[in-house]
Amino acid sequence: MDPGLEASAALEEGLQRLLAGEPLQYVVGWQEFYGRRFRVAPGVLIPRPETEILVREACVRALQLDGPRVLDLCTGSGCIAWSIALEVPGASVTAVDLSDDALAVARGQNPAFLHPGSGSEASSSAKEGLIAPRFLKADVLKEDIPGGSFDIITANPPYIRESEKVHMHRNVLEHEPAMALFVPDDDPLVFYRAIARHALACLVPAGWGIVEINEALGSETAAVFAAAGLQNVEILRDFFGRERFVTFNR
Ligand SMILES: C[S@@+](CC[C@H](N)C(=O)[O-])C[C@H]1O[C@@H](n2cnc3c(N)ncnc32)[C@H](O)[C@@H]1O
Repeated sequence: MDPGLEASAALEEGLQRLLAGEPLQYVVGWQEFYGRRFRVAPGVLIPRPETEILVREACVRALQLDGPRVLDLCTGSGCIAWSIALEVPGASVTAVDLSDDALAVARGQNPAFLHPGSGSEASSSAKEGLIAPRFLKADVLKEDIPGGSFDIITANPPYIRESEKVHMHRNVLEHEPAMALFVPDDDPLVFYRAIARHALACLVPAGWGIVEINEALGSETAAVFAAAGLQNVEILRDFFGRERFVTFNR
């Protein structure tokens, strides 16, 4: 096809998808996160800006360690796993998700393209010390997380209660994967109980963890980690002062 016609057909198709309410990020195929472009596609959650706070906190900890071992649960696009691997030379990151679509996107991220300001140009410094994350399929709610010891655990699990759907935009409800977002109203902390169990099993003594949480359930979520026997449990706030993260030590 004539390149001009091809471009205008692609533009027309993108426009139709936008008019049908599809998020812009799925139409263009990427979302900016922690200064890099991450590939996204229907079937994987679009990374959100508040999750960058989790990455920053994890990088501050990881940079104090020599060759830190990091476990990222519920990895989705791999935005947390890849950001830590790229920011912390020598970090070995294991990342887990249950969704085949998410794992395909996470594994398909291009570290050269992810380098800030690099566009599609590969930069050798971008990859210096980079160990590509290992992406594994596992159900966080079951006991089949890969064995091994980790210095740091990160997780942004599903945490929106079904009853909160009424406050959400149509383009999220109709286009982003429900399994990435929702938890039952009668057990909204189910993922945090599982993550606390994994933290106790996988973290080295004094190892550290951070999870993103539902702002309406800050103290309840912190209580899950304290009750499980984790230490120094604290709630962190986001840019708007909302309770959005819980941190802890083994
Ligand atoms: C809120 S999204 C977070 C994605 C990504 N970490 C981010 O911050 O953009 C939650 C992720 O958990 C995954 N997930 C849902 N249930 C799961 C389970 N039982 N075990 C493992 N992963 C699960 C979803 O596929 C989704 O990718």
